[in-house]
Amino acid sequence: MVCNKKRVIIVALTFASVWIYMTFDYFTISLHIQQRPSEVQNAPTSANTTPTVIMAAVKYQTDISETDDSDMNETFHQLIDFKDLGRNKRAVLLLIIVSTAPARFERRQAIRETWWKHCSDGNQAQVECVFMTDGLITNRTQRNLILNEKGKYKDVKLQRLKGGREFGFRFLNQIKWAAAKFNFQYLLRIDDDYFLCLKRLLSELPLRPKQTLVWGFFHCEAGITWMDEAFMIFSEDIIQTFLAQNEGSMLCHPHADQQIMLWLSNILQKTYFHDTRLHHAPPASVVAQFSNISNVCDSYLGAHGAYVKTMYYLGLRANDSAKEFSTIPDFARFCTTKFDHRVFNPEWRYEPKPCKDNPTWNLGNEMWFGKEAGQGR
Ligand SMILES: *[C@@H]1O[C@H](CO)[C@@H](O)[C@H](O)[C@H]1NC(C)=O
Ligand SMILES: *[C@@H]1O[C@H](CO)[C@@H](O)[C@H](O)[C@H]1NC(C)=O
Ligand SMILES: *[C@@H]1O[C@H](CO)[C@@H](O)[C@H](O)[C@H]1NC(C)=O
Ligand SMILES: *[C@@H]1O[C@H](CO)[C@@H](O)[C@H](O)[C@H]1NC(C)=O
Repeated sequence: MVCNKKRVIIVALTFASVWIYMTFDYFTISLHIQQRPSEVQNAPTSANTTPTVIMAAVKYQTDISETDDSDMNETFHQLIDFKDLGRNKRAVLLLIIVSTAPARFERRQAIRETWWKHCSDGNQAQVECVFMTDGLITNRTQRNLILNEKGKYKDVKLQRLKGGREFGFRFLNQIKWAAAKFNFQYLLRIDDDYFLCLKRLLSELPLRPKQTLVWGFFHCEAGITWMDEAFMIFSEDIIQTFLAQNEGSMLCHPHADQQIMLWLSNILQKTYFHDTRLHHAPPASVVAQFSNISNVCDSYLGAHGAYVKTMYYLGLRANDSAKEFSTIPDFARFCTTKFDHRVFNPEWRYEPKPCKDNPTWNLGNEMWFGKEAGQGR
């Protein structure tokens, strides 16, 4: 569809009135224009492929002068490892990993003061909630902030990663850690701008399939489908199957959702659950309905794009509790299960590479910025 900058700009202006979100997701702003990863190359220009245009951008803090490697030492021994705890793994129904950038303190705080409180009101075997962020931080101020936060709240895990756009590799690290440290029945990987009805989720989880489950919000476009990485629940067997892939040939991709769909295409037994109770886009913060809603959890299981103020607001209006629910709808009535990474627009199309090589894709220092900056993730 759109292949050059000028065209992108034209499209941007056309859709600006509707789709510009001038806030930021990851880090600070410069200026940039992009399309959603949901844009598919050669897709018919039909109504269901409306481009979400994006303005904003972001430089990650890797190109700063404050680097001092000797200081890194105090972080190193606090990074997560993948040592298997064996019989000492804690058994939980649900392990929640909130993937978050170091600078996102306010978002984490908004989560801590809203749905996070339900992480500890059940019994110990119910749920474990952690924030996972990149631990190799060159900005010394930033590094000390995250270490203090970690010490204070004890809910932050630091990965041996530098930031950047390799979301697929980041996901692989997260599930390796999860499998090494916990005996979980389900894993939820969720964004730091997602409002979650955790009690509602916990009440229905024991009645959902115990195996083969892949649960989230799926995009369905031009004959392919993929689950958005903002909210993904997997039953334990799916995670184990991911990790059991041949190490030499396991493929990574910058976009976790594409990588996961590649992995899933080799798994025959899977139950795709496209959950329409998840509000995915546009961000809840810009949707009028969410600015005056009561009992949000009566009709939703979660809402994406709940930036700080909205997160607090939804927390106050949650009425989060056990609700009635239906069985998983037949996925075939919603979409095919086909996936082909080559179909994406050039800006989202990357050649998968073996994860074992810690692959990069020459994405530069520019950090992926999220939807608060207008990026459609
Ligand atoms: C980090 O600490 C180790 C041992 O404590 C030391 O040998 C090493 O030189 C330190 N690295 C830097 C860059 O200071
Ligand atoms: C380092 O991080 C701090 C705290 O987030 C920030 O205020 C400062 O601007 C950063 N420094 C650089 C050079 O980016
Ligand atoms: C919010 O919703 C309530 C109840 O539906 C309504 O009475 C009120 O006028 C709404 N407020 C705004 C600012 O839209
Ligand atoms: C909160 O949710 C429960 C369970 O769905 C429902 O019975 C109740 O009416 C809701 N509370 C309010 C104030 O609507």
